[in-house]
Amino acid sequence: MPGATLPDFSARVVAWQRAYGRHDLPWQGTRDAYRIWVSEIMLQQTQVATVIPYYQRFLARFPDVLTLAAADEEAVLTHWSGLGYYARARNLHRAARKVAERPGAGFPGDVAGLMALPGVGRSTAAAIAAFAYGQRHAILDGNVRRVLTRAFAVPGYPGHTAVEKALWALAEDLLPENHIEAYTQGLMDIGATLCTQRQPRCNECPLHQCCQARLTQAVSRYPAPKPARAIPERTTRMLLVRRGEHLLLEKRPNGGIWGGLWSFPEISLEEDPVASLRERWGLEAHPLSALPPLRHAFTHYRLHIHPFYLSVGPDTAPAEGAGLLWLDRSDVAGAAVPTPVRKILRLLDQLAVNDPDGVLGLERMGQ
Ligand code: ADE
Repeated sequence: MPGATLPDFSARVVAWQRAYGRHDLPWQGTRDAYRIWVSEIMLQQTQVATVIPYYQRFLARFPDVLTLAAADEEAVLTHWSGLGYYARARNLHRAARKVAERPGAGFPGDVAGLMALPGVGRSTAAAIAAFAYGQRHAILDGNVRRVLTRAFAVPGYPGHTAVEKALWALAEDLLPENHIEAYTQGLMDIGATLCTQRQPRCNECPLHQCCQARLTQAVSRYPAPKPARAIPERTTRMLLVRRGEHLLLEKRPNGGIWGGLWSFPEISLEEDPVASLRERWGLEAHPLSALPPLRHAFTHYRLHIHPFYLSVGPDTAPAEGAGLLWLDRSDVAGAAVPTPVRKILRLLDQLAVNDPDGVLGLERMGQ
């Protein structure tokens, strides 16, 4: 870190917390692990200002772990009502019952013991151990992740295991020898009040002179966003079956893609078009041509459509009914058809222009 050493980082955080951090939150100024634990669970997914009144009502009703353990779940959930993420309340209650069974109903005295309680992860356990026992352990919640990725320009999405591992290692390396409470609270306060996701207040930040993201004017690039998921690719073959001036359309089943619309009959790429038409649709067809594939993007996948053009004799019995329809070529584009069907019709038109000798059998279609 140019211009700052690791001890420098923690010293800045501690000094800033003493001067400008939050000191009168209702869960501060106590070493009571129960009160600290309840606050940390409430603060897991909820902002301080929202938590404060809930915390005060909760502590008034459940002032100690034995009272909470003795309560029924309904009462606990009632006091959580409106805070959201109710699994937190159920876990809190289960954890209280576990603590109540311990000798003297005492809280676990170390991080490993705390992490064995339902709803207490590594960062929450470290925060409780720091605030209740003064133990030196690293925290890494969403706010702290943002501070560290910016201060040290840590690349990569923090949800990726390798990045998360590197951030935990960094968080451990940064721990000061002393003043763990002020340091832990300071990191939380900087993350919540200055180093915010949008419009961070860098000018007021104690890490201002050493924050690598700020020094390179790249604060908004950290933490790296979740990478877009790779979109799956699917393929299908659409059968364009021509009978004179008509094309065969099939009604798509409700519920799936294009549910209720009319489209060309589909088979998989592995199936033989002529054999499939005979077996599945009872039609004797002559293959004309495979047309160039086209791509259609859905939200969740990309469909590669391979159109295959065939013809049936003019006297072929209409395979109508059961969701099948012979439609005049010139009426297809105006029917309830999906976009790729219209694109394929345009493709047919273009190919017909380039096929003056009618080798593809396109010459008389809707021209
Ligand atoms: N977020 C998580 N723990 C917190 C705490 N103890 N004070 C303020 N914000 C927090």
